[in-house]
Amino acid sequence: MDKLIITGGNPLHGELRISGAKNAALPILAAALLSETPIVIGNVPHLQDITTTMELLGRMGVHLVVDEKLNIEIDTGTITNFFAPYELVRTMRASILVLGPLLSRFGKAEVSLPGGCAIGSRPVNLHLQGLAAMGADIHVRNGYIHAEAKRLRGCRIVLDMVTVTGTENLVMAAALADGTTLIENAAREPEVVDLANFLNAMGAKIHGAGTDIIEIEGVTALSGQGAHYSILPDRIETGTYLVAAAMTGGKVRLKNTRPDLLDAVLFKLKEAGADITTTDSTIELDMHGRRPLSVSLRTAPYPAFPTDMQAQFTAMNSVADGVGVITETVFENRFMHVQEMQRMGADIALESNTAIIRGRQGLTAAPVMATDLRASASLVLAGLVAEGQTVVDRIYHIDRGYECIEEKLSQLGAEIRRVPH
Ligand code: UD1
Repeated sequence: MDKLIITGGNPLHGELRISGAKNAALPILAAALLSETPIVIGNVPHLQDITTTMELLGRMGVHLVVDEKLNIEIDTGTITNFFAPYELVRTMRASILVLGPLLSRFGKAEVSLPGGCAIGSRPVNLHLQGLAAMGADIHVRNGYIHAEAKRLRGCRIVLDMVTVTGTENLVMAAALADGTTLIENAAREPEVVDLANFLNAMGAKIHGAGTDIIEIEGVTALSGQGAHYSILPDRIETGTYLVAAAMTGGKVRLKNTRPDLLDAVLFKLKEAGADITTTDSTIELDMHGRRPLSVSLRTAPYPAFPTDMQAQFTAMNSVADGVGVITETVFENRFMHVQEMQRMGADIALESNTAIIRGRQGLTAAPVMATDLRASASLVLAGLVAEGQTVVDRIYHIDRGYECIEEKLSQLGAEIRRVPH
C-alpha cells in the first residue's frame, strides 16, 4: 500500500485544472447500460472507482474502449450477463448503480449487497423499495439482490430520506419503464442533474432533476447514436483544493470548475476570511497570508453544506482562529478523521454527531491513516500545515476519489510525495 509523505508549512499558490466529477461519472457509466448503441463519455476522472466500474461493466461482457484522453466508448451490444459480484461491490458501494439500468433494460439483475462501510451502515432499502413499487420482483439471498421484472411500470415513489444513488437508480430504472414515474423527496445534487441530462441526451424524458420532484416519462429505447457526453466538474475536488489554499494562507486559481455548484462551500470559505472571485468556470481564492477564522456548519443534502466537505472543514477549523462547531447529519459515523487529527495536536471534542473544534496556532506531524475517502483527504490537508513530516497511510482511499492528488498539490507548491509500501 502506497503512502503519502508531506512536509507542512508551504502556502499553496498557483493554478490547477479540476477533473470530472467522480459522483457524476459513476452513475453515467452505469446509465450507459441503457443505450442500445455505442456512446462516448468524456471528462472522466482517472480514479480507482472508475477503473472498478469499468471492470464491473467489462465482466458483464460490455465492450469498453478508452482513448488517450480518457474518453470512454461503451458498447453494450456484447453484454452476456447481468451480475455484479461481491468482490467488486465491496470495494465500491456505488456498484449498486447497475441495478436499476440492468433491471429496466434486460429484465433481470443479480447484484451483491454492499454491506457496511466505514462511515455508517448505509443501507440500500430505498433503492429496493422503489424498484419493487415499479413492479420488480426482488429477493435478497446469500448476500445478493436478485431482481426480475418483465417491464417496470411507472408509479409514484416518495422517498423516506434523501438518497443520492437511490434517486439515481430509480431515475435510470424509470427511464425505460411503462408509463410515468414521479420521485418525490428526490436528491437535488448536481450529479443527479448531470445524469438526467445524459439520459435526456439519449432520448429519455426526464423533467425536474435538480428539484425534489422528478418526473420520468418512460420511453421504449434509449440510444447514444455515437453521441459524446462530457461529465460535469468535481465540486468536492474543487472544494478540497480551496480549503487547502485557505488553511495554508495561500492563493489559488481553479479552472474547469463550476462555482455555481459550490454556493454553501464558498459562503463558508468567505466567512473564514477568504477573498473569492469567480467566473463561470474558474474560482480564485486569496487568503492574503492570513490565518482562517473558525466556521460552524451543519451538513445536509444539496443545496446545503455537503457531507463530503465536512472532514476538510474540520481540518481547517483545527488551525483556525476561534471555535468551530460542525454537525454531521447525513451519515452516522463520519468523524473517523477526528482521532487522527487529535494525534496531530488538534483540539477537537466529539459529542455524538457534533465536533467542537478549538483552533490551534499549528499542528504537529504524525503517522496517520484513514478509513474513508474524504477523511483521508482531510489528513493530507492537516499535513500541509503541520510542523514536520506527516505520513498518511492507506491512501488507496484517496486514489478512489482524487486524481493525482500529490501531483496537483506539488503543482501548487506543497512538499508531498508518494512512496510505495
Ligand atoms: C452519495 C455519494 C457520497 C455522498 C452521499 C451523500 C455517490 C457515488 N456517493 O452516496 O459521496 O457522501 O451521497 O451526499 O454519489 N440511506 C438509507 N437507505 C437507502 C439509501 C440511503 O437509509 O436506501 C441513508 C444513508 O445511510 C445515509 C443517507 O441515506 O444516511 C444518505 O445516503 P445517500 O444519499 O444514499 O448516499 P450515497 O448515495 O450512498
